[in-house]
Amino acid sequence: MTDDAKKRIEQLREEIREHDHLYYVLNRPRVSDRRYDELFAKLRELEQANPRLITADSPTQRVSERPLEGFSTVRHALPMLSMDNTYNAEELRAFDQRVAKQLGSEDYDYVVELKIDGLAISLRYERGILITAATRGNGQVGDDVTANVRTVKAVPLRLLDADEIPAVLEARGEVYMPTSAFLELNRLRTEAGEPAFANPRNAAAGSLKLLDARITAARNLSFFAYATGELSEPLAENHYECLRRFKELGLPVNPGITRAGDIDEAIEICDDWSKKRLSLDYQIDGMVIKVNRLDQRDILGATGRAPRWCISYKFAAEQAETVVESIDVQVGKSGILTPVANLRPVQLAGTTVKRASLHNFDMLAKLDVRSGDTVIIEKAGEIIPQVIEVKKSLRPKGTVSFRIPQTCPNCGSVVAKDEDGVYIRCLNLDCTGQLRERLKYFAGRGQMDIEHLGPALIDQLIEAGLVRNFADLYVLDKAQLLGLERTADKSAANVIRAIEKSKSRPLWRLVAGLGIRHIGGQSAQILAEHFGSLEKLMNTERQELEAIDQIGPTMAESVYEYFRDPENRSVIERLLAAGVKPEQPTTQRSDKLAGKTIVVTGTLEHFSRQQAEQAIRLAGAKASSSVSKKTDYILAGDNSGSKLEKAKKLGVEVIDEKRFMTMIDTDGHGLRH
Ligand code: IVH
Repeated sequence: MTDDAKKRIEQLREEIREHDHLYYVLNRPRVSDRRYDELFAKLRELEQANPRLITADSPTQRVSERPLEGFSTVRHALPMLSMDNTYNAEELRAFDQRVAKQLGSEDYDYVVELKIDGLAISLRYERGILITAATRGNGQVGDDVTANVRTVKAVPLRLLDADEIPAVLEARGEVYMPTSAFLELNRLRTEAGEPAFANPRNAAAGSLKLLDARITAARNLSFFAYATGELSEPLAENHYECLRRFKELGLPVNPGITRAGDIDEAIEICDDWSKKRLSLDYQIDGMVIKVNRLDQRDILGATGRAPRWCISYKFAAEQAETVVESIDVQVGKSGILTPVANLRPVQLAGTTVKRASLHNFDMLAKLDVRSGDTVIIEKAGEIIPQVIEVKKSLRPKGTVSFRIPQTCPNCGSVVAKDEDGVYIRCLNLDCTGQLRERLKYFAGRGQMDIEHLGPALIDQLIEAGLVRNFADLYVLDKAQLLGLERTADKSAANVIRAIEKSKSRPLWRLVAGLGIRHIGGQSAQILAEHFGSLEKLMNTERQELEAIDQIGPTMAESVYEYFRDPENRSVIERLLAAGVKPEQPTTQRSDKLAGKTIVVTGTLEHFSRQQAEQAIRLAGAKASSSVSKKTDYILAGDNSGSKLEKAKKLGVEVIDEKRFMTMIDTDGHGLRH
């Protein structure tokens, strides 16, 4: 049986690896998502039935369930150098002349690559298995980010079965966030009241520096390999050939890489990409030109900082000049005031720009942007337009500096600076500007998803005094809607029906819709699953929130404070009274293990670590990661190590999986996925 299982597991892994490679590296999927999911589920099932056969390079093992305490460091076998930059063709020709001079009469050629705007990473494979992934750090020593990089699907956990894999093979390249993933991430973050990332590079860097790989896994990072580090034997004689070998081994290589016979050809390729770059779904900040032959690279050598055989050619950031027509102040759903410049429309990097955020009043004061000013705008990471310079010499007479508002532009009440001193907030809880943003968010697609309730109607409802909070939506009737301007019979009926439909949305959507600071969709799901009902969530104690694994202290505090507020409580009570009855999470809750603290260790047969901890929480107990005298039980699976030892020493009762399942009264079914 085990032999059969072993064979089948190996087959499934091979098959899944091949599909991963086709999808993430070659961009040429061969099977439907559904078929892929079936293969994956089958593999997971077999592995759960045979936990001893689980290996680290299995496609099921990309995401580590345990957050790290911190990053350890890795010394690079060969230093990771930086690169000299050039900004025009002339400087590129000067580079070529230096190369020609040092190589004497030898012929040479170049490889021209896209300079991917992400984060340099070194992947170390030993006998074809990914062992470590490290950041560049200071070039000599970097951070060990293996757990996070393993979640990047474009990075193979084991190299494809090529004929000869060097025993040690370091592949270096760039981890990046595709532009589409970046925009989506920022949309979600903004909605959840979290700060947006300035550009995909920062987003990629931030995602690789997370201690919890489960979050990194959700960030849709990708990877291109472009260089070798340590090799126990050479891969090829020249760089272009090395990259071809990379591809054979299953490492993703950028398809835009081209050979150039001389510097003129290289410059032509660079100019070509400077026009085409906007069509890519990732950011490039320039091109890289590399001498192809490895023996010639040895002759050229390196300065302490950078190799002499390669150079980058940086694109100028796209800029445009325009005029500030006015400066507006917007109120966000948590009351933050943001200055926004209304611009004379101008073309920039493929879109018409009419507005640019000035971020906050410190920034506005520093630049001293005034209405009437001629300004230079730039797209940060070519995406978000920003004012970067004011042409003071062109400033019309009689302009004045923008005054920081002392009152809210919407409701006129006083504003205050946040403790950290950056944001200015309107403190009026009844501010209709904030209310408008909160209602828009509540009705939004990621939350209660109320069709037909758009911004224009929300404005009308607020103006007519019909809606002052979420609960008011649920007592609206058709006659009231028909009383508003331009509302026809049919559209009024549609709105009422959509509001009615939203009454039974899943609990997490309602929790997310409340717009509690720091709580986005994901954390709302965790809260909904943990508490099971709005009543329990709103009456929770601070300690219970703090004990939830994926809810950090800031989130716990924010949730606690939100539900302490009598105003918020009364709105929620009215919501429930109006018939909002969120669908409860399907998982069963009980008090079977109420008050107990349980530590899970080793590999279990029926549960992943996360599932076991979830089952513990659902039974009313606390899942903890460290053993102490306060631990009631240690649930020990196969290969339990030091935690089990410690538990035995402390006299903590050891239970096995079977016993655990009788304690929580389940056969393990329904918990598997
Ligand atoms: S080669 C010794 N190739 O640019 C240099 N680097 O500014 C070896 N980068 O740290 C690196 N795309 O993070 C190389 N096609 C490419 C690249 C690339 C992006 C990054 C890399 C490096 C930085 C230097």
